[in-house]
Amino acid sequence: MEEITPDSVAVDDDRSREILGLAWGGAAHFAELLAQEGELRGLIGPRELPKLWSRHVLNSAAVAQFLPEEGSLADVGSGAGLPGVVLALMRPELDVHLVEPMQRRVDWLLEVVDELDLDNVSVHQVRAEELHGRLTVDAVTARAVAALDKLSPMCLPLVGAGGRLLAQKGQRAAEEVEKASKVLRKLGVVDVTIHEVDMLGDGDVTRVVEARKK
Ligand SMILES: C[S@@+](CC[C@H](N)C(=O)[O-])C[C@H]1O[C@@H](n2cnc3c(N)ncnc32)[C@H](O)[C@@H]1O
Repeated sequence: MEEITPDSVAVDDDRSREILGLAWGGAAHFAELLAQEGELRGLIGPRELPKLWSRHVLNSAAVAQFLPEEGSLADVGSGAGLPGVVLALMRPELDVHLVEPMQRRVDWLLEVVDELDLDNVSVHQVRAEELHGRLTVDAVTARAVAALDKLSPMCLPLVGAGGRLLAQKGQRAAEEVEKASKVLRKLGVVDVTIHEVDMLGDGDVTRVVEARKK
């Protein structure tokens, strides 16, 4: 088993407090649950554990600044609850829908929602495509789910008029946008912005692709 470093669980420093605000306590609790059970339950790889707080919890928080204060959000392919659970903690006035087809992960998400007392969250055990025409939200988030050309047809039908898809991406964000440009247009996207967010101020940039619908 990998060594558990101080960064496996919450770091109580100024930066984390500034990023998470009032959600720090809930996020610390979530990180603790993940550190205890994440590897055992196949939610997080052993190599990810030592960086759980910075690379997963704080990284998930990068999307919050592009979300409305209220309205609705669907996190597609939530898995361990990233970024959906962190965002639900940061935006208590948002109705958050965690969309995840795998039973094992859904069981985990339901336990986390109960343990953290998240009354703004519903968990849907379905593929995103099964919610098309049944759920419409102001924003959809997705982290590490699929390349943008595959992700867009999965997620954009859930986004209402004037809403947005916020996809967390790696270094190839621009290439993915280029490759998906036709399908994005076909799905009603009128504007795409790639935001570069340096969450920790250490030069390690997270990219958030924002695709806005007409
Ligand atoms: C690599 S994991 C990423 C999990 C989490 N977002 C994260 O950043 O750690 C991808 C997740 O997407 C889910 N997934 C795959 N296809 C999906 C679909 N069509 N609709 C919803 N979720 C899907 C998988 O079950 C898996 O939990």
